[in-house]
Amino acid sequence: MIQVQELSHAFKIGKKGKEKQVPVLKGLSFSVEKGEIVSIVGRSGSGKSTLLHIMAGFLKPDKGIIEVNGVKTSVFNEAESAQFRLANFGFIFQNFQLMPGLTAFENIELPLKLRGDNKHVRTQKVKDILQHVGLTDVQKHYPNELSGGQQQRVSIARALVTDPPIIFADEPTGSLDSETEQDILLLIQSLNQTRGITFVIITHDDTVAETANRIYRMHDGELVERGVTHAI
Ligand SMILES: Nc1ncnc2c1ncn2[C@@H]1O[C@H](COP(=O)(O)OP(=O)(O)O)[C@@H](O)[C@H]1O
Ligand SMILES: [Mg+2]
Repeated sequence: MIQVQELSHAFKIGKKGKEKQVPVLKGLSFSVEKGEIVSIVGRSGSGKSTLLHIMAGFLKPDKGIIEVNGVKTSVFNEAESAQFRLANFGFIFQNFQLMPGLTAFENIELPLKLRGDNKHVRTQKVKDILQHVGLTDVQKHYPNELSGGQQQRVSIARALVTDPPIIFADEPTGSLDSETEQDILLLIQSLNQTRGITFVIITHDDTVAETANRIYRMHDGELVERGVTHAI
């Protein structure tokens, strides 16, 4: 489903004329199969978020090829990347990134508005998804009226509502206590199984990484497969 070939990226830091290149990704090649939960685990600063930004088309790599469902996305311009993202990817972030002025319902509805679904379709889809993630009772609450676990459920619902085949999660449980973390990881596993969604989870935490079918470890800008933990 996702193929990454010989991916390299360096950031330039320092003053103009005295820039230094800091290599972050050094020739990564790996793949993600349809229906898998893949985790990429590594220390803070090892380049995991950079890899995710490149896979999702937010950032152009210096070198390398990314293919998603046979489409070479690494040659896309910004507009093409944005359009491809809306149709194919959902995102879950550590800090939820919900809109504070919108209710749970409205946050989940937002991507449907962006792609131009009509009100009737939007309402039906949001209602279904609220039920699926167990948020029907708090749909009119604003983010600051929800617990961390509930906020992450809203953000998962927002990622799901457009039915994307792939969801990228960057430290999805990084702001949650360990009990809520387990709830969210179980929800991800259940969505993977019931809806067949492919998940790519980025984490520094081995416990989180263990939820995956396949674990890759980031080390010195390279990716080493650590094996398949569960049958798919
Ligand atoms: N926009 C940027 N400009 C310069 N350096 C960056 C930028 N983004 C990330 N880095 C550096 O790249 C390295 C990897 O960062 P990141 O991908 O965020 O790691 P991780 O997500 O594994 O913690 C770090 O050393 C970080 O400081
Ligand atoms: Mg990161």
